[in-house]
Amino acid sequence: MCGIIAYTGHRPATPIIIEGLKRLEYRGYDSAGIAFCLQNKLSVIKTEGKLSNLEQKLNSQEVLLNTSGIGHTRWATHGLPTTQNAHPHLSQNGRFALVHNGIIENFKELKKDLISKGITFTSDTDTEVLVQLIAYYVDKGNSILQAIQKSLNQVKGSYAFALIECSQPQTIWAGRCSSPLILGKGQGENFIASDIPAFLPYTKEVIFLEDYEIAEITPSQIKLFSLSHLTPIARETVLIHWDIQAAQKEGYKHFMLKEIFEQPQVIENCLRGRIDASKQTIIIPELNDIPIPSRLKIVACGTSYHAGLWAKYLLEDIAKIPVEVEIASEFRYRESLLDRDSWVMVISQSGETADTLAGLRLAKEKKATVIGLCNVIGSSIARESDITIYTQAGPEISVASTKAMCSQMITLLLLTLFWAKQKQIISQQTINSFIKQLVTLPEQLKNNLTAYHQKAKELTPKYAWAKSFFYLGRGIYYPLALEGALKLKEISYIHAEGYAAGEMKHGPIALIDPEFPTFALAPKDNLLPKIKSNLQEVQARGGKIIALTEPDALLNVDDTWFMPRSQHPFTSFFVLPALQLFAYETAIYLGKDVDQPRNLAKSVTVE
Ligand code: AGP
Repeated sequence: MCGIIAYTGHRPATPIIIEGLKRLEYRGYDSAGIAFCLQNKLSVIKTEGKLSNLEQKLNSQEVLLNTSGIGHTRWATHGLPTTQNAHPHLSQNGRFALVHNGIIENFKELKKDLISKGITFTSDTDTEVLVQLIAYYVDKGNSILQAIQKSLNQVKGSYAFALIECSQPQTIWAGRCSSPLILGKGQGENFIASDIPAFLPYTKEVIFLEDYEIAEITPSQIKLFSLSHLTPIARETVLIHWDIQAAQKEGYKHFMLKEIFEQPQVIENCLRGRIDASKQTIIIPELNDIPIPSRLKIVACGTSYHAGLWAKYLLEDIAKIPVEVEIASEFRYRESLLDRDSWVMVISQSGETADTLAGLRLAKEKKATVIGLCNVIGSSIARESDITIYTQAGPEISVASTKAMCSQMITLLLLTLFWAKQKQIISQQTINSFIKQLVTLPEQLKNNLTAYHQKAKELTPKYAWAKSFFYLGRGIYYPLALEGALKLKEISYIHAEGYAAGEMKHGPIALIDPEFPTFALAPKDNLLPKIKSNLQEVQARGGKIIALTEPDALLNVDDTWFMPRSQHPFTSFFVLPALQLFAYETAIYLGKDVDQPRNLAKSVTVE
């Protein structure tokens, strides 16, 4: 996620802005910049890479004269992480500078229209469209507030922005839709930021801007207006009691917990720009005019491998595309039998995993077509893939991957439906049903996460003593069983094995005893009777069982954890956070370092 900080007051603004951006670094970024007005002229200084690069460019005394300005750390979504694409972006006439967090879905059509009106652009970003549009409307005789209103009424997507104009250096405008923006109320100074930590050392009095509201701030005033009619809005300030660290996690104890609870928002972000609700179709622009793979090899590691394994069931079942899923470190060292007709999909949150990157390069040596499914824009895998599809999950800080897998599963489901529709083997009615489930999923999940968290806390004391755990599942719940076991292993250090439930009688059941509990994924689907008989075998040997199931599945186990009823394969999106929260609470109970587990790195860039 990008980071925004803006200041207007009586102090030199640049040091405050730079320090504010440093307190937003945890959000992840690949470029940074600052803009301010001096003697009726806008200065914009920006650079790719870290804030230290920006600081080196800010070594002149001049930058201490301004007492207002806007700053930004960019997490690239459209356009590579280059200086040109870094924020702030200027209007063509040099009067306005703007920073933005979010995704303007219709920026291409807006840009085309502005170009037809003679506006020239300097970047590949969606953000630049917004500042050019505002300047265009001001040139047409509108006030800045009116120009913002007219521009935002044309924008589709999410935004949080801050804007300055060179003739009113102490005034800053802002607005938001779906991306957070918070105002800080100081003494003779005011702040705007994506997140509270950016200005917390200066004030604990905040005002939360809501969607479809515009703010206009000066050193002495904070004014809010409705986007719809520009009517003034009165809003009380809120006193914040967090310290900086807590604020970066938005009050959550760990980044992992924050990222688990971000999953509803992540699903919304994944769907943004990929569903045409009016036509009831799935849109994957990256695959337009690209042939449909006759068969697909998926190559990945860890959690990303589990996402690929999960997708295999859907791609074969719904899109009738044969899929092989391979662990990258195995794939890269064996005869892969690929050729120029082969299709390989590499899945990687970081886009830097050494084994997966090596798998990509091996596939390309064999002339195969490589699709990269990545979260980090401009990462090595993203840049070297023939086709790159971003999962739009925002930066994932915790070493244990959570929201990234959710975003990979959503994106893979969208790909499955897209290809099935192209092959004309799925009805419009079925597509409509999937789209309905997809767009309601975020709210449904949001309504369950707090109860899930409570359930995980209840179960932990009963099972945290285990020396080993089985995770059992069938069908698409087998990859999820593998993921549940991985989560428990990597943050609580309890040994755990994910297993295909039907495999138990082929040896593993010999391990079962009262000290070796089982976590069963048992949704009420066609395989439930099979899982039930597997669990009876476990119980017959004194094994304790937690079953993640549905109320009417009527399982007789030690602990049942109920999920809402939902259409296949959407139950997966309720199973995943339950597994994550169980592992999280178990690790907490055992006093482990959840965000930085021993021996692990967020991205395994060496083999
Ligand atoms: C997941 O919790 C682990 N941190 C790890 O298995 C991770 O999924 C794996 O290293 C792959 O990372 P990538 O998705 O960035 O390629």
